[in-house]
Amino acid sequence: MKVSILAAAAALLALASAAPTPQEFDGDFIDSIPPPTAEGAPAGATKSGPDVDVDTLVESTVSDISKRSTISKRGVASDNFVKVFDNWTGSTQTGGYLTFKLLPSYDVDLCATKCLANTGCVFFNIYDETNPAGLLHKCVLYSIASTKGAATNFGGQDHGGVISVKSLSAGYKKKALQEDVPGYHYECFGDASINAPQPGPVDPYMGVSFTTTSPSVCAAACDAKTAYNLKQAALNGTYRACNFFDFYNVYRDGVPYQTACTFYLISYDASFATNFGQKRNGYQYSIGESCGYTRDVLIGVDGIATKPGVIIT
Ligand SMILES: *[C@@H]1O[C@H](CO)[C@@H](O)[C@H](O)[C@H]1NC(C)=O
Ligand SMILES: *[C@@H]1O[C@H](CO)[C@@H](O)[C@H](O)[C@H]1NC(C)=O
Repeated sequence: MKVSILAAAAALLALASAAPTPQEFDGDFIDSIPPPTAEGAPAGATKSGPDVDVDTLVESTVSDISKRSTISKRGVASDNFVKVFDNWTGSTQTGGYLTFKLLPSYDVDLCATKCLANTGCVFFNIYDETNPAGLLHKCVLYSIASTKGAATNFGGQDHGGVISVKSLSAGYKKKALQEDVPGYHYECFGDASINAPQPGPVDPYMGVSFTTTSPSVCAAACDAKTAYNLKQAALNGTYRACNFFDFYNVYRDGVPYQTACTFYLISYDASFATNFGQKRNGYQYSIGESCGYTRDVLIGVDGIATKPGVIIT
């Protein structure tokens, strides 16, 4: 868990110099949003989530159940999630896909437990898939809440020739979508992202990432950017410190598309949340679940910090 957050933070650093800015949420910015890579669990019984094969997954799921008594706790779904749809014949095919788990049985509570244990998971789709290899119970995790309208993968024959039929597909959305992040406090802006003005000669904008899945990953990246900038400090000892980020979901025609995180030197409140989306190339892009996270302890003066030990003359 710690390792994966650090790896994600390193990946974000690589994107630090992305050119388009979210100001105005304009065409260039929208064009810079990469399409979701994987949108749902693949059909068939021979492959599972990234880099893990089916047997290993089933084995680890089963061993989880026997190791941890909380894993099959009844009521974990109803306590933490709201049912969005059920008894449907399509699985979700949409942005924000994280991974999927094979379950030993159709077990909504177990799938809910998997979602709670996965950083960034706010929605899961559980369904049965029957294919020539037999019956699979799939639990698919997402970082953006989805709808029945996005559950459009009805099986049939896929590119690999696997024929599958789906049943008992149900979607559940996490009750508390906002996430507490240690060291930060947050304010949510609903359906708008931050449009940050540049008040003086210093541009407060520090870049955007679309590889984030949760505010805690963004926070790790924000802190990693600051640490990196400290190492690269100018000769006079000054460097740009990340004090604020806006985490939000991007929807395309109402369907989950990407999660985004924008980084800034200084904190912005709801009065700056004025980007509501935009039409582009025939699609309507909109924003949801936008929350701004500010460091509890701000670094520098308006985000410009000075390396300890440097005397400014
Ligand atoms: C599920 O849907 C099928 C097909 O529409 C219907 O026949 C069945 O009664 C439904 N089952 C439940 C539990 O709602
Ligand atoms: C420190 O150096 C940076 C980079 O050369 C420059 O942009 C900044 O204005 C300088 N700050 C001060 C306080 O001299």
